[in-house]
Amino acid sequence: MRLFNVASVFSLTLAAVVQAISWTATPFNPSSIPLAVRTPYLSAWLAQGEGAALNDAWATFWTGMIVGWAGFVKVDGVPYVFMGTPSVPAAFSKATQKSSQFTSTKSIFVLSAGPVDLTVTFLSPVEPNDLVKQSIPFAYMAVSAAATDGGSHSVLVYSDISAEWVSGDNTLTVNWTSTTTGSILTHQVQLENPTVFGEINDHTQYGSTFYSTPNAVGATFQTGADVTVRAQFINNGKLANTLDTAFRAIEDNWPVFAFAHDLGTITTATTPVVFSVGMIRDPALEYIVAGGGTQSRNLLFMSEFTTSAAVISSFLGDYSAALARATAFDAQVQRDAGKISADYAAVVALSIRQALGATELTISKTATGAFNTTDIILFLKEISSDGNVNTVDVIFPAWSIFLYANPALGKYLLEGLFRYQATGLYPNAWSVHDLGASYPKALGHNDGLDEAMPVEESGNMVIMALSYAQKSGDISQLQRYSGLLNQWTGFLINDSLIPANQISTDDFAGALANQTNLAIKGIVGIGAMAEIESLLGNAAQSANYSSIAKSYVTQWRNFSASTTGAHLTLSYGNSSSWGLSYNLFGDKLLKLNLFPASVYAEQTAWYQTHANAFGVPLDTRHTYTKTGAYLGQTTVR
Ligand SMILES: *[C@@H]1O[C@H](CO)[C@@H](O)[C@H](O)[C@H]1NC(C)=O
Ligand SMILES: *[C@@H]1O[C@H](CO)[C@@H](O)[C@H](O)[C@H]1NC(C)=O
Ligand SMILES: *[C@@H]1O[C@H](CO)[C@@H](O)[C@H](O)[C@H]1NC(C)=O
Ligand SMILES: *[C@@H]1O[C@H](CO)[C@@H](O)[C@H](O)[C@H]1NC(C)=O
Ligand SMILES: *[C@@H]1O[C@H](CO)[C@@H](O)[C@H](O)[C@H]1NC(C)=O
Ligand SMILES: *[C@@H]1O[C@H](CO)[C@@H](O)[C@H](O)[C@H]1NC(C)=O
Ligand SMILES: *[C@@H]1O[C@H](CO)[C@@H](O)[C@H](O)[C@H]1NC(C)=O
Repeated sequence: MRLFNVASVFSLTLAAVVQAISWTATPFNPSSIPLAVRTPYLSAWLAQGEGAALNDAWATFWTGMIVGWAGFVKVDGVPYVFMGTPSVPAAFSKATQKSSQFTSTKSIFVLSAGPVDLTVTFLSPVEPNDLVKQSIPFAYMAVSAAATDGGSHSVLVYSDISAEWVSGDNTLTVNWTSTTTGSILTHQVQLENPTVFGEINDHTQYGSTFYSTPNAVGATFQTGADVTVRAQFINNGKLANTLDTAFRAIEDNWPVFAFAHDLGTITTATTPVVFSVGMIRDPALEYIVAGGGTQSRNLLFMSEFTTSAAVISSFLGDYSAALARATAFDAQVQRDAGKISADYAAVVALSIRQALGATELTISKTATGAFNTTDIILFLKEISSDGNVNTVDVIFPAWSIFLYANPALGKYLLEGLFRYQATGLYPNAWSVHDLGASYPKALGHNDGLDEAMPVEESGNMVIMALSYAQKSGDISQLQRYSGLLNQWTGFLINDSLIPANQISTDDFAGALANQTNLAIKGIVGIGAMAEIESLLGNAAQSANYSSIAKSYVTQWRNFSASTTGAHLTLSYGNSSSWGLSYNLFGDKLLKLNLFPASVYAEQTAWYQTHANAFGVPLDTRHTYTKTGAYLGQTTVR
């Protein structure tokens, strides 16, 4: 897990303190608000900085590059901007943001535009119980209006996206088409010279972006230069139903793809007008297979929808039902996480779209070219970092949400790693760090030169494999890959009690020998393998691993204690060092109870007297901390 921007580790807490915002933020104002976050490439956010209303800043890709997404409303003929910061050669006012709110699946903004309040709901569905729906790389924006003065008012709503969604290089040429008849209006835009599996600045360099809305009575559309199209709406309250066909660079007179709706004369809250934004790549990823060849994989939804129009129609038509499912899921998360604390529930809610939005559910094709829907692999991009595919120590801190949402998602995340290593192409005795240096190319590391985190990743794999089996009752993955699990456990037996000089998942803090917390990870891994052998019916091997784990705990207790006995060290023998021993999480998660209660009591007391203003530091090398270390500790149930 690389952290290039260490500030992001603590910005969550800091942001809540330094901002002076003029609207109500529920449950709190985070450092960035998710808008459309479904995949590593459909990832639009409203970065908060010192606090930004929906119309104080442009939406940005997670890297910070703008993805143009504008909104205007006309109330009784008076134009207001409600989203983005467009500059247009026409006069308009700025709607005033009254509130922002986020849940696990939604971000909701209320802005007043004269006598009308607009409610803008961004829904990025989380669909753990319907994997086809989970795999649809689309998100919704819904806009409704209500009078605040009891009167009747005419309301017209406008929105567009720019071509910035399709590339990380705005000098590249794009082309576009629009569907202007039928029940749905769609603009489609893509690079004129795509690179399959390519990326620039972490954006995909192939596939198409779609902006769609129902073709309701009074709906209009237009494509063209941003200033032209936006001024058309501001001046006329409707679009010209014209298409610009002068294909050009993204930044050349910024082509935008717009729709407008006439809500008519409104009083109480209207039925929302819905827009969908999505990105489809075909294929989605390439994956290394036995023998060293590669396989192209597609998003799962393609097995049910043969055209982009079909999936868009299904997605847009499903808005009300999707909203109801999302609201039920939000309530479930709030109920469960709220049992720990309100703050914890808020951080969990904020994290869910971020975690799911790093992933894509894929399937392969059979020899005849049909989709093989029994062959599901979930891929995850290491975001805000180096872009690795299925990084084991990035999956691990996110594991709780997959296990909670649907344990099968965890199985599908591990499957790609297991299957690659079972080919024998990976040369090391320990678990690989990731499936490929750069998403979406899951090409493995046949040279064995991946970022080595031997104890970390071997422990993680054994722990997660058992965790999935415990939660689901499905031991098929343990049976299929018991050879690899035994191999990694053998490595842990060799290397986890006295861990060699190496990095852990906290690689940004540097390498260290004899890391106390890393030893815990390895020992829990050995204990987990004892449990796996027991599930597989191998009682003797289970007893052997179990006794090794227990003897390691006894020895570790001695190596890891500070001279005063008041705390665990960060590394053996250095009594002035300490850190968050968050790998104890695995011992509790798996209910192994290898480590004595005294360790928990001692560390709890120590942390209570060593917290800084923004929490307990990760360890004595720095003053920063990370939410993963806390989430891991508190998700223990
Ligand atoms: C846009 O470019 C793509 C990729 O080169 C091409 O397949 C498609 O036909 C083009 N569409 C139009 C409308 O020119
Ligand atoms: C579908 O995928 C599964 C899992 O990889 C595989 O076992 C099966 O042979 C595949 N089916 C076909 C028809 O290729
Ligand atoms: C563990 O160490 C033994 C003895 O050095 C060695 O033979 C074996 O290959 C090692 N196992 C692994 C998985 O590293
Ligand atoms: C690691 O700890 C062991 C046990 O205390 C010790 O023998 C060894 O010298 C330590 N290694 C390093 C590099 O400090
Ligand atoms: C226990 O496992 C270790 C590591 O795999 C192995 O070296 C040892 O021979 C095993 N002992 C027994 C009694 O099976
Ligand atoms: C801890 O290790 C030291 C040095 O090997 C030894 O003298 C001591 O008895 C050990 N203590 C325990 C509790 O095992
Ligand atoms: C012991 O740990 C402290 C705090 O992390 C560090 O500053 C110091 O360099 C370490 N000492 C040795 C000998 O490694």
